[in-house]
Amino acid sequence: MKVSLILACAGKGTRTNLKENKLLYKVDGMTIIEKTLSAFYASGLVDQYIVVASNQDYDYVKSILPSQVEVVKGGNTRTQSVKNGLKLVSNEIVLIHDGARPFVTKEVILDCIETAKIYGSAIPVVPCANTICTANENGIIENYLGKSGLYQIQTPQGFLTSNIIKAYSQVENAFNDDGEVYKTFFGDVHTSKGHTKNIKLTYREDFENLNAIQDFKVGVGFDCHKLVENRKLILGGIKVPHNLGLLGHSDADALTHAIMDAMLSAVGQRDIGYHFPDTNEKYKDANSIELLKKVIDICKDSGYKIKSLSAVIMAQKPKLLNFIPLMVENLAKTLSLSANCVGIGATTLEGLGFVGREEGICVNASVIMQKI
Ligand code: CTP
Ligand code: MG
Repeated sequence: MKVSLILACAGKGTRTNLKENKLLYKVDGMTIIEKTLSAFYASGLVDQYIVVASNQDYDYVKSILPSQVEVVKGGNTRTQSVKNGLKLVSNEIVLIHDGARPFVTKEVILDCIETAKIYGSAIPVVPCANTICTANENGIIENYLGKSGLYQIQTPQGFLTSNIIKAYSQVENAFNDDGEVYKTFFGDVHTSKGHTKNIKLTYREDFENLNAIQDFKVGVGFDCHKLVENRKLILGGIKVPHNLGLLGHSDADALTHAIMDAMLSAVGQRDIGYHFPDTNEKYKDANSIELLKKVIDICKDSGYKIKSLSAVIMAQKPKLLNFIPLMVENLAKTLSLSANCVGIGATTLEGLGFVGREEGICVNASVIMQKI
């Protein structure tokens, strides 16, 4: 049996107090509608996609979705919106889902489809974790309903298409959900497995939490320079006494270079060779800490700041143990981080390879960047 999806997206999202429909809010450059759809694409369980959009959002929603997604205009209530969507359904099973539930899992979708195939209807539920009560308009509790035997209803709600179309054909008023329409006009509704993660984005704070989860990016960087005579050895902006130093167009501070590349790659920017080319005289003997300040600004323009840093320096000699706290202090100050967010380690390579032969020094760095 093939499956159609109706995604109800024609609301206003008034409870969020956002300026536009909450489903047009973007996370990582993607609207909530696209995020919710991508959960269904990834499941591989749906054959037809129908999105219901309001008159106001219709043109924009159509413009951002792939052509395989059919877009239809909704109504004043969710019930009316779904009724409009049902007219386009061409498969035996239909799933009706809130556009505002982007965290739906493959397991929830699958159990909904399987249950609907057997019983004709499937409503995902989770047991109530909190005690439920009724209260009057003065804030006084009237009745305790408890929690045992009480469930919270989610979507997608799945049905045999012919059954739900029959039920909806008798609808005149607004109903809580599709299951209630089915129960009122057709027959028993069966439960399927919901998931506590499958929340409906409803209030402003639901969107703040969303950012808290989504707004981190990870970056890695690597650098390597040759050790030669008559050069200073500078790591993390600290001059380390040694008979050899690192060769490069700038001050060849391999630690700071690896950190800069990690930061740039985390925010999707090109690397330091692109931003500070060694063919440019401006960067001859440049102080890498000054370049790091420029990288901080580039990341800021991309909307991100560094949250934590971890790096390992590979050097056979000199012993760096006593200089590491100075590097940490200098980098933490430059990056406006506390010292416990800057981790720097050093290791020899046990005499192996070019690092072991003291021909060069390598550095690996990784960073976490946070949305500003
Ligand atoms: N919905 C719809 N048509 C309507 C009203 C709601 O398609 N006339 C959709 C919403 O876009 C949402 C889902 O139904 O994906 C669940 O509704 P709800 O969370 O209440 O969203 P809104 O109605 O947009 O929000 P609010 O009630 O805060 O205005
Ligand atoms: Mg609503």
